[in-house]
This record gives sequence, C-alpha cells and structure tokens, in this order.
Amino acid sequence: MKLLVIGAGGREHALAWKLARSPRVSRVFVAPGNAGTAREDGLANVALAGIPGLAKFARKEAVAYTVVGPEAPLADGIVDEFTAAGLRIFGPTQAAARLESSKEHAKSFMQRHGIPSAAYGAFTDAGRAHDYIERQGAPIVVKADGLAAGKGVVVAMDANEAHAAVDRMLLKKEMGVAGNRVVIEQYLEGEEASFIVLADGRHALALASSQDHKRLLDGDRGPNTGGMGAYSPAPVVTPGVHARVMREVIQPAITGMEKDGTPYTGFLYAGLMIAGDGSIKVLEFNCRLGDPETQPIMLRLKSDLVTLIERALEGDLDQVEAEWDTRVALGVVLAAHGYPDAPRKGDAIRGLPAPAEDSHVFHAGTVLNGKDVVSSGGRVLTVTALGHNVRMARRRAYEIADGIRFDGMQLRRDIGHRALAGGRR
Ligand SMILES: Nc1ncnc2c1ncn2[C@@H]1O[C@H](COP(=O)(O)OP(=O)(O)O)[C@@H](O)[C@H]1O
Ligand SMILES: [Mg+2]
Repeated sequence: MKLLVIGAGGREHALAWKLARSPRVSRVFVAPGNAGTAREDGLANVALAGIPGLAKFARKEAVAYTVVGPEAPLADGIVDEFTAAGLRIFGPTQAAARLESSKEHAKSFMQRHGIPSAAYGAFTDAGRAHDYIERQGAPIVVKADGLAAGKGVVVAMDANEAHAAVDRMLLKKEMGVAGNRVVIEQYLEGEEASFIVLADGRHALALASSQDHKRLLDGDRGPNTGGMGAYSPAPVVTPGVHARVMREVIQPAITGMEKDGTPYTGFLYAGLMIAGDGSIKVLEFNCRLGDPETQPIMLRLKSDLVTLIERALEGDLDQVEAEWDTRVALGVVLAAHGYPDAPRKGDAIRGLPAPAEDSHVFHAGTVLNGKDVVSSGGRVLTVTALGHNVRMARRRAYEIADGIRFDGMQLRRDIGHRALAGGRR
C-alpha cells in the first residue's frame, strides 16, 4: 500500500521512516518533505501545498491513508476536507484540534471534565488582565490563546514581566490574532514530561513516554526553542505515574471529547507537569506528535505503525498493544547558525553517516541542492541513537553528531542530563 505524510520536519521524517519499514508498504509520500525524506529508501517527496491539491494527489495515487504531522493543517481542517472527499486520514477534525489551537478552549475543556490543570483566567481586556495579575502575584504564566509556534508563552518570575507580556499580546498585537485573547495561569513547579497517545475517538493507546529540552543552551539556559533534544522513556513517568496519567488525563480527555460532540481521532499529546509527590497537571494539549520527541519514540517502536494507525482509523485501538525496544533512545538536535531568532539557511552539511541499526539521523530543515544536502531552517537534523541506558544512548548520539559538520552548527552537549541526574536509569 501507499501512504502520505504531511509535513517537512524531523517529526515527519521519523514518522515516514517508521511507516516505510512496514512490509505492507510500498511507498510513503511526504508532502513536502526535506532532503532526508528525499534520500530515504521507500520515501518520495511530493512538492504540493494546499489541501485540495493534496486530496487530489491522495486520490490519484490511491493512497491507503494520510497521516498529518504538524498542527497548522489540522487547525485548517484538512481532516474534515479529506473525510468529506471520502479519503482516509489520521488526525483530529478542525473542531477537535481546537484543543491545541485555542488554549482558552483547552482550559475550559479540562475544567469541565475534571482534568487536573493550573488555575487560570482568560482575558481579551488588558485592564482586567492586569488586575488579575495584581491579585494573583508572581510567578505567573501568560499565554497567547492561539497558535504561536512555541513563542506564545511567557513564564513571568515577577509581575512586571507578566504585565509587559499582556501589553505585548493584547495591546501591541505582537502575536497577531493568536494574542487577541490571553490565558493567565498559576505557575506550576515540577518536572515536565510528554505523554502521547493514539486515539480512535473512544480508546487510547499510549506511546512510550519522553522528555525534551526546550532551551537553546546547556544547563537549560538561554532562549526557548522548538526543542534541542529529547529522549524516551522519561524516568519521571514511572509505572505509577503512567497509570495515573491514563486515568486522570487521557481517559477523561477522550471521553470528554466524545461527550462534547467532537470525538478525538489522531495523535494526542499531553504536556505534563509532574510534582514531587507524583501529582500531575496538564500544561497543554497538542493535537499531534511532539518534535523532537517523535524521533526517539519512533526509533524505539517495534510494532508496525501502519497497523496501529489502521486500528485507530477503524476504532479498534483497544484490540492492540504497542511493543517497545527496551533500550533508551536519545536525540540531539543540530541547529543552524542564528537559531532560534534568525536561523541562517544555505550551509552545506557534511559527514552524514550511513544508516545503522542503533541510530538514525532524521532531517528537519534541509534541502537537496544537486547532490549536496544544505540547511534550510532552524532545526536542521536530529541525531537519534539507542543505548542500553541514557549514558550509552547519549554517547552514541554525540559520537555521530561529532562526525557531522556545517558552518555555524549549534548543539547542546547535555541532552538527557535530567534523566541521568534524577532518573531510575
Ligand atoms: N503553568 C505553568 N507553570 C510553569 N511553567 C509553565 C506553565 N505553563 C507553561 N509553562 C512552561 O512554558 C512552556 C510552554 O508552555 P505550553 O503551554 O507548553 O505552550 P506552547 O508549547 O504552546 O508554547 C512549557 O513547556 C513549560 O516549560
Ligand atoms: Mg508546549
């Protein structure tokens, strides 16, 4: 069978790579893809944009189903349009995707269905937002309601910072329409983890847990990024925490979506804050896989992803289980010069390794220029490796990363430090 993956990042390379390893698949198209998906066996890039063009392509190629990587096409209603055209596609409808595309909607959803989350207020009026901050005090967190590509959250350690964030969003419109409304919430302490499931509208199948590193620099310092590295499993997600997340977060979310008349099909990502006492609060929902968490997760997945998604499309997720490599997978992002503010494009990439059993270099911001692979975005590659523990996975990933060169390459040297310091492994 043929499949279609929508997107161009490291997440989509990892997804498409994993799908293509299924013996049932002859080809995975990636639209638009990157240099990594262009060069990978069994994958083919498709230079198409726009939902109607993609639907036409899926029909012409008799694609068995389409998998959507990023949030933007989901929020634009790609699932609704494909479904209306009689095409199979895995992802939430536009209405269900509001769980990510409106933080205010997500907060009221969680409150309505008893899902633990930080106390909050939502405001369109700057005066009222300022009053709320004065009443609550700092630290406090200010979030733009809409999609902001990871740039819409200010964790304010003092009230002035929070007031300034409100003004930037509501008055100066620095986030555009995404900042027409703000959510202001209680500051939570603890350790973050990513918990991702496949959902079929009624049942959920958990993927392996993971954690990412958001800051640019070692020691979790410097500006926020899309993510500089990730690993799976997350030691903080003990079997006890896992059971609690399923019971307190995932099941009520799936049931709540069904009750609200917007049943959820697709990948559902819960960003969690896990406190010292094991209590869990949801920071946000995303309606897709995480990037870079997907890269280590796919490297560990032993089951056939094609079949798992098929079961989800048929509403039979309760009939399957996912099998995982017991090893740890760890991914290190190699980012462009100037990332995250002004990433430079066009740097030639050298030293890309041949594929190996215990590792894979997933591409994100890369394009082919003749035979050369050239950078074309902020996060360029995710070097992902397996090892029997965090230390070994990390050593292997850096061994490979150190063989890759491009001008201005940035990487963190301490991916996995939290798992090494506090974790079980
Ligand atoms: N209530 C909170 N308390 C403490 N930190 C928070 C809180 N909400 C968000 N954060 C921090 O900000 C980051 C981004 O927030 P999140 O809600 O995940 O938005 P997005 O991913 O859309 O930017 C989180 O990963 C977390 O580090
Ligand atoms: Mg987030």
